[in-house]
Order: sequence, then C-alpha cells, then structure tokens
Amino acid sequence: MTLKNRIFLEALKRSNDQVNIPVWLLRQAGRYLPEYMKIRSQYSDFFQMIKKPEICKELTLQPLRRFPLDAAITFTDILTIPDAMGIPVEFIAGKGPVFSDSIQKNHLLRLNHEGALKKLEYVFEATALIKANIEVPLIGFTGSPWTLFVYLYYGKSPKSHDELYNYLELQSHNVHSYLEQLTDIIKDYVQAQIEAGADCIQIFDSWGGLLDQEYEELSLSYINQIVASIQTDVPVILYTRDKLIDNIIDSTPIKCFNLDTSDNIDKHLGKDITIQGNFDPKNFHADDEALKEMAQMVWTKYKDRKNYIFNLGSGLTPDVNPEKVEYFLNQLSSFRS
Ligand code: CP3
Repeated sequence: MTLKNRIFLEALKRSNDQVNIPVWLLRQAGRYLPEYMKIRSQYSDFFQMIKKPEICKELTLQPLRRFPLDAAITFTDILTIPDAMGIPVEFIAGKGPVFSDSIQKNHLLRLNHEGALKKLEYVFEATALIKANIEVPLIGFTGSPWTLFVYLYYGKSPKSHDELYNYLELQSHNVHSYLEQLTDIIKDYVQAQIEAGADCIQIFDSWGGLLDQEYEELSLSYINQIVASIQTDVPVILYTRDKLIDNIIDSTPIKCFNLDTSDNIDKHLGKDITIQGNFDPKNFHADDEALKEMAQMVWTKYKDRKNYIFNLGSGLTPDVNPEKVEYFLNQLSSFRS
C-alpha cells in the first residue's frame, strides 16, 4: 500500500514543513488492549503466537484502528534472536522472560548460527504482510547486541549486577565474542526487515544503562557497526534506557533518539537530531482535564519543531486505560491543521 502519511518519516529526516507533531507510542500494541488479550488468551506461549504472520499483522493493526497514530511497529519481540539461536524463551506472568539456559549458569553457552536467519523468516513475512496493509510508515526493530547479551547472561530480566560486572572483567574475551556473534545476526535481521518493507529501524538498548564508562566499547561500537551495515537511507532510532544521550550523540552516526522519561528533552531539541519519546506513560492515569492540559502543552511547545516525534519514555503498561490514550491522542490530533 502506498504511504499516505509521511510526517513521521519527515520528522526523522528533519524535513517536515507542516505544523504537525507525528505520534506513535512504545508498546502501542499489547496487554492494555482488550482485543489483544482476546487473541493472546488463545495461546499459552507468546512465541507460538508471534510465529504466525497473520496474527502479527492483526496485533499491529489493532492500535491503528483505535487511535490516530502516524506510524506502526511490527508486532514481534527483541527476544526472537536468542530463540532462533537455540535458546528458547518463555514468558511467565509476573516474572517476565525466562530462558531455557543462560551464560551465568553455563559459561560455555553456545549460540547456534546454523539456519538462525531462516528461523526468523516469520518476522520478515509479518513485516511484508503488515506493510501491504497500512498507509503509515512501518517501524522494524531489534534489540542491541549488548541488551540481548544481558538477557542471555542472566537468562531472565536482570536484577543485581555484581556477577555480571565480574564476568565482564574476567571474561572480556568471551563477552566480545558473544557481542560479535549477536552483531552479525542483527545486521542480517535488520537488512531482511528493510527488504521486507520496514521504513525505519528502532534499536532498543534497554539495558544500556547498566554500563557507564564501558558503554561505548560494549554497546555503542556494536550498534554503530549495525548502522554502518545498512545499505539504504532508512533512518535508525536509538532507544537507551537510564542513560543520558549527551555522551552518545557525538559518538554515533545515529541522528534520532528515543529519550527515556529521565532525560531532559528541551536541552536536546535545538540540535540537528530528531528527538522522540520522553512522555511518562504514568501520565495516562491522570484525569481528562489534566490530560487535556498536557496535550495542549505538548502541542504549543513542539508544533513548530521539525525534529520532534511525540512518544513515551517507556512502554505502555497493562494497567493503562485505552480510553485515556484515545482521549489524549484525539486532543492532539484536533489541533492539527
Ligand atoms: O506495539 C509494540 O510495541 C509491540 C511490539 C513489542 C513487544 N516487545 C511485544 C511484547 C516491542 C517493540 C517489544 C520490545 C521489547 N521486548 C523490549 C524493548 C523495549 C523496552 O520495553 O525496553 C524489551 C526489553 C523486550 C523484552 C520483553 N518482551 C519483556 C521484558 C517481556 C515481558 C513482559 C513485558 O511486557 O515487559 C516481553 C514480552 C512481550 N513483548 C509482550 C508484548 C506485548 C507481553 C507478552 C504477553 O502478552 O504475555
């Protein structure tokens, strides 16, 4: 389908000339939507569900049917890669992801490259199918090598970090070997999503904040290799959690950043980069009057910006009422010319 709405892509390239703020939301599909829960309840296993391209298409379209959004994001997950490399993941309610094995338990954990990209074909099929059914740009995505390494190290969402820091110090060679292996497959994964129709790629470095001095060596340098391998002018957005972007901007060719809720948005908007995000999803618990004021504030402050995309600093959580999201987004779109 042809693109009827380009304002998101224009903001990514800082070339929009309209008074308009593009809008999409982190985790705009998912458990806060009853229509998602209805489909989800038919599968005991999340991966079994996302391996069906038709279902991914349906789940991607669900928020677009409800809300005036300017971009879609492929319904899949960053943990598809470990799964395809022979480390299956289960999502256990209240516990998050649980892997069948981990580097922490098994220092010799092997990632299986043989046929891994083939096993990810369902993501590329879903991408093509979604692209054929939408009129807004499609965002493809991946976890960063570092963030996937952190999940593989713990075999679950990380809690205390002393052991990880010990491992980084004592097994630095192995750490780089895992990061290189993940970088290799992510390059192909991103390229295949672009070939299937993704108009933009977002890289989630959700655990980038665990690194301080070593961020550039262990995370950003690998992300930069992925960006350098992209053979088209498809824009890349970087999301790092718990990390101010000040030090990142000068060390990467990336020009678009999804701020978490803690960074200061105003300090970055004067630069030749595109800023997305920062809005706290907790705000959707406010009453209508307060939400209306927030929408008015966002519009007045940012409408003339060429480099601002409205989005959240972290994903929508299952406790958010979709009617609040709708109310807020309708307010924003009512201001449009
Ligand atoms: O509209 C969308 O954004 C949906 C697509 C999407 C999902 N995961 C679906 C999903 C996206 C973009 C992601 C990204 C993702 N996945 C990240 C990066 C963003 C961030 O929040 O930092 C991370 C770290 C993951 C890993 C992951 N996947 C976790 C920790 C979990 C457990 C629960 C949770 O929601 O945090 C998942 C499972 C998952 N991925 C669900 C969804 C809708 C919920 C699973 C369920 O329905 O049981």
